[in-house]
Amino acid sequence: MSKLKLLLGQTLAFSGDPFIEGPSAAKHERRGGIAIQDGLIHAIGTGDELSARFPDAERHDYGDALISAGFIDAHAHYPQTAIIASWGKRLIDWLNTYTFPEEMRFGDADYAAETAARYLDLTRANGTTAICSYCTIHPESVDALFTEAQKRNQRVLAGKTCMDRNAPDGLRDTAQSAYDDSKALLEKWLGVGRLSYVITPRFSPTSTPEQLEALGTLWAEHPNCLMQTHLSEQVDEIAWVKALFPDARDYLDTYERFGLLGPGAVFGHAIHLEGREHARLKEADASIVHCPTSNTFIGSGLFDMDGLTAEGHRIGLATDTGGGSSFSMLRTMASAYEVAQLRNRALHPSELWWLSTQGSARALRMDDKIGNLAPGMEADIAIIDLSSTPAISQRAAQANDFWEALFPTIMMGDDRAIKSVWLGGEKAA
Ligand code: GUN
Ligand code: ZN
Repeated sequence: MSKLKLLLGQTLAFSGDPFIEGPSAAKHERRGGIAIQDGLIHAIGTGDELSARFPDAERHDYGDALISAGFIDAHAHYPQTAIIASWGKRLIDWLNTYTFPEEMRFGDADYAAETAARYLDLTRANGTTAICSYCTIHPESVDALFTEAQKRNQRVLAGKTCMDRNAPDGLRDTAQSAYDDSKALLEKWLGVGRLSYVITPRFSPTSTPEQLEALGTLWAEHPNCLMQTHLSEQVDEIAWVKALFPDARDYLDTYERFGLLGPGAVFGHAIHLEGREHARLKEADASIVHCPTSNTFIGSGLFDMDGLTAEGHRIGLATDTGGGSSFSMLRTMASAYEVAQLRNRALHPSELWWLSTQGSARALRMDDKIGNLAPGMEADIAIIDLSSTPAISQRAAQANDFWEALFPTIMMGDDRAIKSVWLGGEKAA
């Protein structure tokens, strides 16, 4: 048994879903704490209770700072780290101009390793403790990310991005090699330490029906892993999908008909859904991941958070680095707030915080392990300074309650708000 550690400060945990139960689903303790042992949260309570119960614990007193589950970024492209904030394009042009040339470089294992390390440093500095990422077509890019994650004892889900058409020379695989490489990587990495393999067709325009079918077969052979892809992100993209798959009922059907819809399917974006797609996503218990900074940056559209949560979908939140314009889940929450406002819905801070922790964990089917402060959960923790800049601190000083004190950090916070990060029960930053 490792020495028990006691982290003291304000705490924020969830006993339910604030989209269903309202803000009372969040449990805030002004002077609270968590006890950590052997990588897990052992207890949560008031600071006084825990100090009395564990007098010999190693104490880390964070004062007024907030102890929260670390953020979970449910959709990212780590290979796009170096092209984040590239100017002036919309989705298909942006892929061809910026993304594909950069992704071409990941056949070089050294470049992939260096980028993976930089990406995990940048996200950890922003309080993100778990990530679900796309890699590139190169198996080396998967090995690089998992190797770096393993060094940090970090929960990372990822997969080789499969593309066998509409991508440049040097960035295409085939139906067979996508199946073979994905299978070999899955067998190598699935369930190793804190890592999980995700079957990853990029999106239906860059996969032939044969490739989608091969990946559907692989998923049927390994139903315990997730499958991630993109869905209905931009209007031009949807028109292209309809031209490429004239028999499909809608965009979702280009996945469904090949066995790529079911529990454990994780669809990024899902902005311009048709009626049948809403119903099938819900019936199949698939997940949807909202990527608001990407949707505004690439000009894709306004996600219908209100409508989709009312229908009871599993919804996570994500940066979509580097289509998204930030590594920060705080900035991502701010963007989600702004996008919802444009659809006449003010997301409550409890809903935003839930989306970036529990919501993303649920979307990735890991909410029994990560995304909340509760006994038995893995101790991936972010410590947040709620007065990290003069602008935030002068607004927080006027707050009448905890939510008013938290909201300025959601709207204006960045990596300066992240005081410390714990991964698997150890202080990592
Ligand atoms: N659709 C297919 N590939 C991508 C990608 O890399 N980023 C985004 N935002 N959308 C995509
Ligand atoms: Zn994406």
